[in-house]
Amino acid sequence: MSYLDQIDKTKVPEHVAIIMDGNGRWAKERGLARMYGHQKGVEVLHDITTCAANTGVKYLTMYAFSIENWNRPVEEVSALMDILVDLIEKETITLMEKNVRLLTIGDTDMLPENVRKAFMGCIEQTKNNTGLKLIFALSYSSRWEITKAMREVTQLAIEGKVKPEEIDEQFVSRHLSTGIQGIPDPDLLIRTSGELRISNYLLWQIAYSELYFTPCRWPDFTEEEFWKAIVDYQHRERRFGKTSEQVR
Ligand code: IPE
Ligand code: IPE
Ligand code: MG
Repeated sequence: MSYLDQIDKTKVPEHVAIIMDGNGRWAKERGLARMYGHQKGVEVLHDITTCAANTGVKYLTMYAFSIENWNRPVEEVSALMDILVDLIEKETITLMEKNVRLLTIGDTDMLPENVRKAFMGCIEQTKNNTGLKLIFALSYSSRWEITKAMREVTQLAIEGKVKPEEIDEQFVSRHLSTGIQGIPDPDLLIRTSGELRISNYLLWQIAYSELYFTPCRWPDFTEEEFWKAIVDYQHRERRFGKTSEQVR
């Protein structure tokens, strides 16, 4: 039986965030260059985006490139950037057909001009789409995001536009790149490839997300794996600090 049949359609997580990890190892295990893993990885990204939309997910945030990833060998970074531009150029039509809106979080100023342009163009083109919001975490790191927010809030305080006592958790959330764009906190965070870490991803936003780790390398990730994660999520009890009796 497919995991799809086990999904409770009334309890689909609104926001799923994914750390797409394991492309390099997937390629190496097949005697291929890392780049092939990234190439296969974007094909999977296409499939999972469609799958998430069809499953009823409203927000899908994909960790595509971290700020720390800029420290990889220049050849890999440049191959990855080419793959991303290629992806966006090819995918824009599909996103329009599927009513998907593209958004990004991250330091897009660090991106090469052609990559930035490709993403900005697609964001603009898809801005009126009302279906799934596909958020690319691109040149993203959580500490960068929190530091940036602190700087901006300090500036507001200096200008007398905010008082310290007005800064509460909602205020902080609204000043992060997710909150600014109306993106809620993830309900479910999936990491592929077997690593049990967060790697500077959405640290503030995942305070109460359910975490799901799978040894599956990202290029091997399938719809079935995605549904399996959703089913697993649906068996969790989200207590938010309360007792089991309180939330039942
Ligand atoms: C994830 O796969 C993609 C990016 C980080 C861009 P990796 O490239 O990290 O693959 P592994 O972890 O080395 O196998
Ligand atoms: C996290 O994967 C970033 C992305 C998937 C884009 P990494 O492969 O960069 O993470 P670490 O270095 O193993 O923590
Ligand atoms: Mg990795």
